[in-house]
Amino acid sequence: MSESFELIRGRREPEAPALTKPRAFIKSYGCQMNVYDAERMGDILALEGYDVADSAAAADLVLLNTCHIREKASEKVFSELGRLRALKQARRDAGRDMLIGVAGCVAQAEGREIMRRQSAVDLVVGPQSYHRLPDLLRQARRGGPVADTDFPVEDKFAELPQPTERQIRQRGVSAFVTVQEGCDKFCSFCVVPYTRGAEFSRPIAQVVADVERLARAGVREVTLLGQNVNAYHGKDEHGRACSLGRLIRRLADIPGIARLRYTTSHPADMDEELIAAHRDVPALMPYLHLPIQSGSDRVLAAMNRKHSAAYYLAIVDEVRASRPDIALSSDFIVGFPGESETDFEATLSLVAAVGYAGAFSFKYSSRPGTPGAERSDQVAEPCKEERLGRLQALIDEQRQAFNAGTVGRIVNVLAEKAGRHPGQIAGRTPYLQAIHFDGPTELIGEVVPVEIVATGPNSLSGRRVDERHSAGECPN
Ligand code: SAH
Ligand code: SF4
Ligand code: F3S
Repeated sequence: MSESFELIRGRREPEAPALTKPRAFIKSYGCQMNVYDAERMGDILALEGYDVADSAAAADLVLLNTCHIREKASEKVFSELGRLRALKQARRDAGRDMLIGVAGCVAQAEGREIMRRQSAVDLVVGPQSYHRLPDLLRQARRGGPVADTDFPVEDKFAELPQPTERQIRQRGVSAFVTVQEGCDKFCSFCVVPYTRGAEFSRPIAQVVADVERLARAGVREVTLLGQNVNAYHGKDEHGRACSLGRLIRRLADIPGIARLRYTTSHPADMDEELIAAHRDVPALMPYLHLPIQSGSDRVLAAMNRKHSAAYYLAIVDEVRASRPDIALSSDFIVGFPGESETDFEATLSLVAAVGYAGAFSFKYSSRPGTPGAERSDQVAEPCKEERLGRLQALIDEQRQAFNAGTVGRIVNVLAEKAGRHPGQIAGRTPYLQAIHFDGPTELIGEVVPVEIVATGPNSLSGRRVDERHSAGECPN
């Protein structure tokens, strides 16, 4: 699809031709869904006539796409805004203006507070309203500040412009596609149901059209995104709700798509169709990020997680029966209010029982407006710190053991980009391990058999092998 076609199809032509185009800088924090949103905002700004700026200092418009998940994430926004205020003043002194916008989950949760605390901010836009950026920008230019933090998620996807073929190619051969947004689970520690709103699934036809467009522009791997991606229940062409497992089967048939992944899943939504897809769909990678948060049933109940540790372990067994080599990962929170040493030890035992390829772990952060924040039995900071250290040591041991266990194996690697050293290619194994190997850049976009030779701190090293020697050995 050509760029000019996209521009005509887009609802707006770029604004009045200027001698030099204005430049925009988007800085994104938080989860992969924010990365996806930042790309979509980039598409919108390109249609509005903006070029990409390399830094905030060089930009006419700076957008911070923020994350509210933990206190530190939110605090970053205010310190960054302090720096931007100084930059804006310096540009004004030099006779040029700068618009500052705050998007994402902090914008949603604390829009008014941002406007009150930082007068340099010209616009605030929530995660479900950024398709309205062009109008907001026009209003902000006329004299802000302006804010839009509505929740019209259906409108957003229908109204977002499509990326051009050039934009897709610039972003590489592995792409994110949001298929589900929001969350109805209300875990008692989490802000997501408040910042992203109620659960919503995009219709199948919309997702298929997006993935077909990506595939035509050379994308080989698609990661389906959602705060609760396996709660997906988008409508098919007959208006029937369709599960994530069925969506995956449909997308696997799209020519050019070699690999599919999805994240993040909730244990209570791991249904039979999805587990069976891990057995039946070769394009579905053997990797599952399945957060449990705690190994203690008492804490899980207090967190309102809607599953027990035994239920989680049973799901893990089912998934492993379906795809024995699947690599597992998870999220953990230590120091949730009321967590005792015994509760924490149950988490360590669960980790030991599962055997993860890697996992994320966080100290509980009290979030305003969530039930967890109201509790009087908060865990002391040094105790959280100590537990986090023990948990991370165990997870790291498991990650290293997993990586070491793959040395000597031949696996298919999607060559994603040039590596750090000349003549090197960087990519991912089916198990999402970062790997580099020697090879020409022409390989980028291809799935090549690679023998894993060694593990390193951040990446594995591998050696390309002849396809004839690898027949039958490689998982996709
Ligand atoms: N939807 C996913 C997770 C979304 S948030 C799920 O259901 O698991 C990503 C991770 O951030 C969570 O899994 C959790 O481990 C962590 N997290 C969320 N709120 C937190 C808080 N208040 N303090 C510390 N970590 C938190
Ligand atoms: Fe947050 Fe829980 Fe929803 Fe995950 S399932 S986004 S942790 S409320
Ligand atoms: Fe953060 Fe919002 Fe994602 S709070 S983790 S950016 S959904």
